[in-house]
Amino acid sequence: MKNNNIPKVGLGTYGLTGDNGTQAIITAIKNGYRHIDTAQTYDTEKQVGFAVRDCGLARDQLFITTKITPENFSNLKQSLSDSLAKLGTDRVNLTLIHWPSHYDKVPISDYIGELAQVQDEGLTDLIGVSNFTRRHLDEVDKEIGIKRLSTNQFECHAYLQNRILAQYCIDADVAVTCYMPMAVGAVLKDPVIIKIAQQHNCDPSQVALAYLLQQGYIVIPKSANAERQKTNLASTDVNLTADNMSAIDALDRGQRIVDPEWGPTWD
Ligand SMILES: NC(=O)c1ccc[n+]([C@@H]2O[C@H](COP(=O)([O-])OP(=O)(O)OC[C@H]3O[C@@H](n4cnc5c(N)ncnc54)[C@H](OP(=O)(O)O)[C@@H]3O)[C@@H](O)[C@H]2O)c1
Repeated sequence: MKNNNIPKVGLGTYGLTGDNGTQAIITAIKNGYRHIDTAQTYDTEKQVGFAVRDCGLARDQLFITTKITPENFSNLKQSLSDSLAKLGTDRVNLTLIHWPSHYDKVPISDYIGELAQVQDEGLTDLIGVSNFTRRHLDEVDKEIGIKRLSTNQFECHAYLQNRILAQYCIDADVAVTCYMPMAVGAVLKDPVIIKIAQQHNCDPSQVALAYLLQQGYIVIPKSANAERQKTNLASTDVNLTADNMSAIDALDRGQRIVDPEWGPTWD
């Protein structure tokens, strides 16, 4: 199944650079993470590669995602091969288009076919997109069929619930992957989330993540800290009530953190 084998909690690696980053990724794998999220622009593909080789697990026990940067649309296949070399693997589990072309200068028809082709050639098991709006997804549908996509990864947390886009993805059987699922810490200070955490005797981060997981979403929190990594992974054990879910629903305020001026017109 194209979506069901993506582990629901992954480790975000943005910022996990250098030797400290490698150590943090190894620690995460030892703590039970099986899904690691990197990208060509994070400067963490080598770190992920070192960690995968050093962690003692067989490659097939890990799910690795990387993302093609728009700068590489004209040499997508070569850039993915370069990523595989950095990652020390002959195929990744999931390859995403990191962003639509800046200002939509390069049409989707120029690169999405090649993404499908590298999947056909076995460089990646699954393909998907990131930061794509409904309009971009419709264009993908015309080119290769939206059902070919396993996921759309976009900013999603209690303060930016992105419901219209999320529902659009769900209806198309494209899994929602939430980046910045804790809004880089902002939602952890929210009194509603803190109160629910007290009720469940758990950490606010677990409430923030459980809220997304219980909607069927995938989350990729980043932590360099072993204890926080464990806490985040254990968010799958928290069962929020319907009242808890409604209380967090009401926190949505469209508060977007990642909004570059060259980015798309959001849904
Ligand atoms: N596709 C895209 O365009 C895109 C854009 C942005 C991000 N991403 C991906 O999404 C991942 C996650 O986003 P993010 O790292 O920016 O934000 P995030 O996961 O929402 O938050 C990370 C921050 O929260 C802290 N933290 C982690 N666990 C915590 C806990 N249990 N309690 C308190 N604080 C905690 C971390 O500090 P410590 O490390 O000190 O714990 C870090 O400062 C990235 O690493 C990247 O892989 C993708």
